Amino acid sequence: MSAPAADWAIDVHELTKRFGGRVVVDRVSLRVARGRICGFLGPNGSGKTTTIRLLCGLLTPDAGRGTCLGLDITARAPEIKRQVGYMTQRFGLYEDLSIRQNLDFIARLFELPGRRAAVDHALRRLGLVERQQQLAGTLSGGWKQRLALAACLLHQPRLLLLDEPTAGVDPKARRDFWDQLHQLAEDGMTVLVSTHYMDEAQRCHELVYIAYGRVLAQGHAERIVAEAGARDLEDAFVRLVGRAQDNFA
Ligand SMILES: Nc1ncnc2c1ncn2[C@@H]1O[C@H](COP(=O)(O)OP(=O)(O)OP(=O)(O)O)[C@@H](O)[C@H]1O
Ligand SMILES: [Mg+2]
Repeated sequence: MSAPAADWAIDVHELTKRFGGRVVVDRVSLRVARGRICGFLGPNGSGKTTTIRLLCGLLTPDAGRGTCLGLDITARAPEIKRQVGYMTQRFGLYEDLSIRQNLDFIARLFELPGRRAAVDHALRRLGLVERQQQLAGTLSGGWKQRLALAACLLHQPRLLLLDEPTAGVDPKARRDFWDQLHQLAEDGMTVLVSTHYMDEAQRCHELVYIAYGRVLAQGHAERIVAEAGARDLEDAFVRLVGRAQDNFA
């Protein structure tokens, strides 16, 4: 799988990050082609959120290099931030503002030109038009995630970094959310999405599995299962972590 440099939305090599002398991201290399949905999986504390924050320029790597949307992740972090939609693991919405007011407020923070049109577009894209006056605090978990995704899309990013966007959301709402992601990818969006759910992993074009800060497997789900000699994806991950524990825990 090789593509011209311009076709990689994410192309990073041997990224390393230490906190207080402890290595939490350990020579992580990742490549995601434009328009693909890449699932990012791994146990709690394995380094997913830290890696995502390195990719969007919120953290600076101690070693390694690479590009996001063709821009150097260390030298051009401000430009990357403008073109990336980042949904944090514990995002916040203003509960006593409506859906529209939440989006309008975020559009003001971004100082988006054509604010009203941008909010209208995001509402339409996520199927939120009819609920736009509803207070965010009264939304179900699934609709809250949808609003958070709409907020990430307001500034028309080209890459989405979604950190466990569906944690705690019921299966039907998760499925709807994933239909939405596939629609976005069909329109050319690239998505890196962390998750602990195996059904979501199955819906990704490709996967990256990380533990102890290291990439243990990368590629299509079927290939990961076959290479691990496992019966399914969950079994593959259990085996990979088991081997990693023996090697470097
Ligand atoms: N700012 C920080 N200072 C010190 N240690 C940190 C900091 N941020 C994260 N860590 C540590 O780095 C390791 C990786 O954390 P990270 O949040 O990246 O994991 P994760 O894979 O996102 O986990 P989860 O699935 O629980 O969200 C953890 O041991 C965490 O405690
Ligand atoms: Mg995390």
